[in-house]
Amino acid sequence: MLEARRVLRGDRVLLRPLEAGDLRRCVKWFSDPEVIHFLGRGTPVTLAEEERWFHDYQRRGDDQIFAIEVGGRHIGNLGIHRIDRTHRKAEIGIVIGEPEFWSKGLGTEAMRVALRYGFGALGINKISLEVLEYNARAIHTYEKLGFQKEGVHREDVYKDGRFVHVVRMSLLAREMPDDAA
Ligand SMILES: CC(C)(COP(=O)(O)OP(=O)(O)OC[C@H]1O[C@@H](n2cnc3c(N)ncnc32)[C@H](O)[C@@H]1OP(=O)(O)O)[C@@H](O)C(=O)NCCC(=O)NCCS
Repeated sequence: MLEARRVLRGDRVLLRPLEAGDLRRCVKWFSDPEVIHFLGRGTPVTLAEEERWFHDYQRRGDDQIFAIEVGGRHIGNLGIHRIDRTHRKAEIGIVIGEPEFWSKGLGTEAMRVALRYGFGALGINKISLEVLEYNARAIHTYEKLGFQKEGVHREDVYKDGRFVHVVRMSLLAREMPDDAA
């Protein structure tokens, strides 16, 4: 899994392979109600669960998880998942786990760097994602990058006592704007 060792650089963000030593920080993020409000997953994870997940991930070849670093600080993760070499497609997901780093342009930059890698070195043609319908900041970010809404999974997630629609979006390689900033 040579590709999984890659480091990707933007102006302000650096994407490097997630490491076992990062998992304690991830557990903190995925236990923070302010963060998980925006994620499909609902319940806090334990370190043991996260370590099990990481162990499985390391044995598979169809996922690449990056730690997002800004100024040497690990602030979130970005994953390119379910990389399908036959149909040249993949899923993408991003979490900035430190709310103080939200809305500073960093998520857009991290996504742009990862999309260039996906459409470039990985040779992917289509990258898809799913987002909770009320996550307006994320949807705006994805639209800014050129993603289009493909459809809605109606009431697909039970969140904070109610059913929530999940929006599916995708971007094709030829649709990636050169200046997606
Ligand atoms: C979603 C996320 C990755 C976006 O990254 P970010 O660094 O916060 O976003 P950016 O600053 O790059 O861009 C945010 C854009 O949304 C806009 N925005 C901010 N809050 C908004 C809101 N409530 N409604 C609509 N747009 C909003 C910003 O103005 C900016 O757009 P602009 O550049 O046109 O002004 C990040 O906020 C995050 O990780 N959030 C928590 C977890 C999450 O939601 N993950 C995605 C799950 S699908």
